[in-house]
Amino acid sequence: MNKKIIIGNWKMNPNSVLEAEKLFKSIKKLTVKGVDAVICAPSPFLSNLKKIGVTTNLALGAQNVHFEKEGAYTGEVSATMLNSFKINYSIVGHSERRAMGESNDDIAKKVLALTKNKIIPIICVGEKDRDHSGFYLHTIKAQIVSALSLIPKTIFKSVIIAYEPVWAIGANAERPATPAECHEMVIFIRKCISDISNTQTAHAVRVIYGGSANVEDAGLFLNDGMADGFLLGRASLNAKSFGEIIKIASINISK
Ligand code: PGA
Repeated sequence: MNKKIIIGNWKMNPNSVLEAEKLFKSIKKLTVKGVDAVICAPSPFLSNLKKIGVTTNLALGAQNVHFEKEGAYTGEVSATMLNSFKINYSIVGHSERRAMGESNDDIAKKVLALTKNKIIPIICVGEKDRDHSGFYLHTIKAQIVSALSLIPKTIFKSVIIAYEPVWAIGANAERPATPAECHEMVIFIRKCISDISNTQTAHAVRVIYGGSANVEDAGLFLNDGMADGFLLGRASLNAKSFGEIIKIASINISK
């Protein structure tokens, strides 16, 4: 069984560095041994949060990265810059960024830039909607195959794949996925990885779920959905909810 990982995607929140520090400190108190917790904070907050301190149970991540090393890319942050903060993770390919025009090719280059800088990519994949003929499976496969296309197969096992159906994300979500839908996708994602590497690697990759996950359904996604953890948006902005989900994951591993 893979070690569970609970990742918070704070998105463009909270409003000030003081609030960010307060939230991070509260979350830090609720982390536990045996479950990895990661906070992907807005880049301007990373330095201050780093000073509060990461632990073996709590790491920091970014929400995006640019694939070029340096240069005339106004507003962008490079993997080298993120590495200089000594952060361990970065989200790539979140649907909110894909919606702003990020392509599968851009994401592949971002994954390469991150791994070159020893930062673990949290690769988001997910379909915009589901169709009865199962075409959405092709979308997911293309996203995975492309995201992993530039890195050596030997490091596949260190990446994290977050299955985030776009229709399940955010306050305007249609509905969360069901644990059965999550399970189906976890199997499918491992199959896609196995097809381009091997079964052992496919099992070692942590496949997590994101999209309106909350305290009420977290246990079901871990047990029945076979998710290795979560990428949480709204639930990561509330220390109590985030802490509860970490606790649920820790109960889940001690079973
Ligand atoms: P949500 O966001 O948990 O608020 O639906 C998840 C995400 O966008 O990563």
